[in-house]
Amino acid sequence: MAIQRTFSIIKPDATKRNLTGAINAKFEEAGLRIVGQRRVHMTREQAEKFYAVHAERPFFGELVDFMISEPVVVQVLEGENAVAKNREVMGATNPADADEGTIRKEFALSIGENSVHGSDSEENAKIEIEQFFTEDQIVG
Ligand code: CMP
Repeated sequence: MAIQRTFSIIKPDATKRNLTGAINAKFEEAGLRIVGQRRVHMTREQAEKFYAVHAERPFFGELVDFMISEPVVVQVLEGENAVAKNREVMGATNPADADEGTIRKEFALSIGENSVHGSDSEENAKIEIEQFFTEDQIVG
């Protein structure tokens, strides 16, 4: 498997509780390199665009409100099989279903306040990375 890049967000529930470093340690322990990183307070427009695929879901409004409630950390993670590896390190979307040792098992508060987002495919990773990073902001 070739070296891949994936997009990650450390969400408001985690930045608020000062967990950025603890979450980054999980990525690095798993062999993922943080090759781009920026702290941003998303606008409503940015959050609505990012989660447009969920626009028809009943939780969309709640999701957008949450994502703009506090700053987030947007990241590009690089490594062998990075998309799948990141999803493994994050754990299941609902922390109640997440495996021991995963980020969501250790830190997430609920299915909504679940501490991290990670791309679900290499194709979506490219689209998501482009929403927040220019190529010169990613240094591998
Ligand atoms: P994420 O990986 O960022 O992608 C979409 C997000 O929607 C997901 O993580 C969850 O945080 C959120 N989400 C999914 N299901 C629900 C739900 N039932 N209620 C609130 N938020 C949800």
